[in-house]
Amino acid sequence: MRVFVFVWLLIPCLVKAQAKKPAGTTSKTASSSANTLKNSITRGHAVYTQYCLTCHQADGSGVPNLNPPLIRTKWTLGSKTVLIEQVLKGSSGKVEIDGETFNNSMPPLASLTDQQIADVLTYVRNNFGNKASIVTPAEVKAVKAKTK
Ligand code: HEC
Repeated sequence: MRVFVFVWLLIPCLVKAQAKKPAGTTSKTASSSANTLKNSITRGHAVYTQYCLTCHQADGSGVPNLNPPLIRTKWTLGSKTVLIEQVLKGSSGKVEIDGETFNNSMPPLASLTDQQIADVLTYVRNNFGNKASIVTPAEVKAVKAKTK
């Protein structure tokens, strides 16, 4: 009889312990996705410094008449597919942004890895006063497959 009562007392405790688990898991996921953004931006900054800075400048303001700025342009904040293609294929000709024209060529940078492109674009989309969603390596991979 004593054992029986003891077991009944134990059950609510066990149920409680079980119920706690999902809550703990959720908060862990939330903080690790914040880490993902932070880490991606840190890695993206390094890629930017090596591959983009000479043309678009450290502050993303570009070079008058030559290289366009990356500050709140329709490319930086717009379609991720178009943005990924810009890095993969480059482009040349005239670009007009806020009444200013830029006339120079951007070389294709398709030799960068999916991760490097995702990181550098996440960095650009969350720096220079920009605020936009992250770009993932899977998204880069999908665009690469389509543009081949
Ligand atoms: C050799 C100089 C050069 C390098 C290096 C370069 N760009 Fe560009 N970028 C340009 C030029 C010039 C244009 C405009 C091209 C045109 O006229 O079509 C451009 C256009 C862009 C655009 C679209 C227009 C805008 O201003 O929003 C984005 C986005 C961009 N570049 C991002 C990058 C990123 C990210 C990197 C590095 C991975 C990079 N560029 C490396 C010169 C460069």
